[in-house]
Amino acid sequence: MVQVTPFFLVLSLALGAPQLLVEKCNLTGNWTNDLGSNMTILAVDEKGNFAGLYNTSVADHPNKIQQSPLVGFLHLTNPIDQPTFGFTVNWAFSESTSVFTGQCFLDKDGKETLKTIWLFRHHMNTTEDNWAGTLVGTNVFTRLRKQE
Ligand code: BTN
Repeated sequence: MVQVTPFFLVLSLALGAPQLLVEKCNLTGNWTNDLGSNMTILAVDEKGNFAGLYNTSVADHPNKIQQSPLVGFLHLTNPIDQPTFGFTVNWAFSESTSVFTGQCFLDKDGKETLKTIWLFRHHMNTTEDNWAGTLVGTNVFTRLRKQE
C-alpha cells in the first residue's frame, strides 16, 4: 500500500526547496522593478563582486532595446542582513551608461526589496550640452517569481 502522507511530505519539501535555498539579500537571481524592467544577477563572489544582465522596459533612445550587461559590488561587511550595493549598466543599444546604488531591505515576512537611486548619463556632443546629459531617478526592485 502507498504511504500517502510521507509521499506528499517529500513532494512538498522538494517543491519548496528552491525557495529555501534562496539566500536573503544575496542579490543573486531575477528581479523586476516598478517600470517593468527585469534584471538577472549572476553569482555574487566571496568579495561581493557580481555581474548580470539588464532588460530595460523603457529607453530614451530610438534603437531597439537589447539586453545589456551590468557589473557591481554587494557590500559584505557586517551587518550583512540588509546590505548596500551598487552596479553599472553598459547599455548595449545606445551610447549611455547608468549607475544604480541602493540597499536590500527585508520585511517581517522575509520579503526582499531593493530600494535604488540611479543616474543615467546620455552621450552629449559638446561640453555646452553637458548640463542636459544626466537624469536621476529611483527604482524599487522585487524578486521576479516564475508565475508573475
Ligand atoms: C537608453 O535609453 O539609452 C538606455 C536605457 C535606460 C533605461 C533607464 S536606466 C534607469 C531607468 N530604470 C530602468 O529600469 N530603465 C530606465
